[in-house]
Amino acid sequence: MKELLEQIRIKAVAEIEAAENTEELRIKYLGKKGELTAVLRGMGKVAPAERPIIGQLANEVRATIEAALTNKAEEQKKKEMERRLMTEKLDVTLPGKIQTVGHRHPIAQTEEMLREIFIGMGFSIAEGPEVEYDYYNFEALNLPKNHPARDTQDTFYITDNILLRSQTSPVQVRVMENKKPPIRIISPGRVYRADPADATHSPIFHQVEGLVVDKGITMGDLKGILELFAKQMFGPETKIRFRPHHFPFTEPSAEVDVSCFVCGGKGCRLCKGEGWMEILGAGMVHPFVLSNCGIDPNEYSGFAFGMGVERITMARLGIDDLRLMYENDVRFLRQF
Ligand code: PHE
Repeated sequence: MKELLEQIRIKAVAEIEAAENTEELRIKYLGKKGELTAVLRGMGKVAPAERPIIGQLANEVRATIEAALTNKAEEQKKKEMERRLMTEKLDVTLPGKIQTVGHRHPIAQTEEMLREIFIGMGFSIAEGPEVEYDYYNFEALNLPKNHPARDTQDTFYITDNILLRSQTSPVQVRVMENKKPPIRIISPGRVYRADPADATHSPIFHQVEGLVVDKGITMGDLKGILELFAKQMFGPETKIRFRPHHFPFTEPSAEVDVSCFVCGGKGCRLCKGEGWMEILGAGMVHPFVLSNCGIDPNEYSGFAFGMGVERITMARLGIDDLRLMYENDVRFLRQF
């Protein structure tokens, strides 16, 4: 019996040392049907005097096997850890990856500035469809079919009565139809014209138009609002100038210039020696337009203005070709 136990000890330890899967061996030797257990079951045949000695030996063998199993398990754990340390190596001396942070497109930046300036003066934002009825884009604005002034805003037609809006003024008509004065809105958005692209024209561009309608609104209010706007947009020294003009939807109408913020009015490359830059169109809302929208022109008056976001962006950043803003060349865009 002693020999048998010794044999089991030697065999078990050797097998455990060579093994991959120690769990199988634990069952093989120490399990209920294991080899050591089988030997202990035979204790009955051992002479009573020898039993304590055999018992002690059996316990020792069990302890040896258990120790061997624990050792092996630890050894395997260590090996696994080493393997992972080797394969999941992290080289902290490698240079980091630069995360480039982008920014908004210059046109979007300008639109944001315009929104903020006018929101600061109590205007709210109104939006409308880019695919628009001829009625809202032209007719309601005092531009009946075949009116010669339509030529200046030729656009893309989907049908005879549906077109891509050539201005955001149709939004103003929609607002006036739905809301009674006082009205104080700006309508930013994309507009379309059948113009070939060149340094100052694009078939798609952006506008921000404004509309104020209330009792007793005068051209003085228009001038005051635009002066405040120009100072906030181009700097506190900025002056504005009204030149008579014609728009079918306003009467009287004006084109508005700002003093060049680069040379202060002396004349430079940016203002082409003029000292002034034309930035928007404006005027008092034509009484026909008010009554087309269900507002009584004898009770209410209003002013409107409209500006091209691209034009303002070019002035603000000194960009001399509009097409650059649509090429999506990061070398250009990164500068702003
Ligand atoms: N809608 C005009 C345009 O696109 C601009 C404008 C708006 C002029 C409002 C006067 C009043 O040319």
